[in-house]
Amino acid sequence: MYYGPRKRQHILTARTISMKTAVVYVSIHHGNTEKIAKEIASVLDARLLEAEEADPKSLSEFDLLGFGSGIYYGKHHEKLLRLVHTLPTVERKKAFVFSTAGVSDRLVEKNLCKNHQALRGALTDKGLDIVGDFSCCGFMTWAYYRFLGGRNKDRPNRDDLERARAFAENLKRKIQTLPGKFN
Ligand SMILES: Cc1cc2nc3c(=O)[nH]c(=O)nc-3n(C[C@H](O)[C@H](O)[C@H](O)COP(=O)(O)O)c2cc1C
Repeated sequence: MYYGPRKRQHILTARTISMKTAVVYVSIHHGNTEKIAKEIASVLDARLLEAEEADPKSLSEFDLLGFGSGIYYGKHHEKLLRLVHTLPTVERKKAFVFSTAGVSDRLVEKNLCKNHQALRGALTDKGLDIVGDFSCCGFMTWAYYRFLGGRNKDRPNRDDLERARAFAENLKRKIQTLPGKFN
């Protein structure tokens, strides 16, 4: 049956509103990624879970799953990667990936692909379709930066949180243009 563009949009919006979403994170260094996770979860009206409290089996009940942590030695935190490796294989589910990193804005952008590669690969292996990536600077006191008062002081800042919100809003819109992908 053809509903016409207005009616069709209405149906797609209703489908998105009922989409179950969870945001799973690890944030152990300075709580940087937790700030981003909370911002994204509030826009998406998502369940917010630390990786340690997330049950791999029950995560498959969600239609959209976000996974994020700080970047450690060029990838997401091991706890998050381990959790993803224990997820059951799924179909028709979406995922997005986010992170905070201790480098400059320019390098965050430049390294995003490489830093997200391991987690993206693990999610894809589980049958999840990746629909977005977000990364920003995070305060770090790793290695010799500890003696210099740290790097990226006060990051994520208000602008970073606004960008995270914009990312989540975009994701919502993007998902509305993927008809028939859920249930
Ligand atoms: C042991 C360790 C290793 C890190 N490795 C990297 C790295 O490879 N690349 C990077 O950009 N930042 C690195 N960082 C900085 C963190 O990714 C950054 O501070 C992040 O915001 C921490 O997030 P969290 O507070 O949510 O844990 C490292 C930090 C620590 C403590």
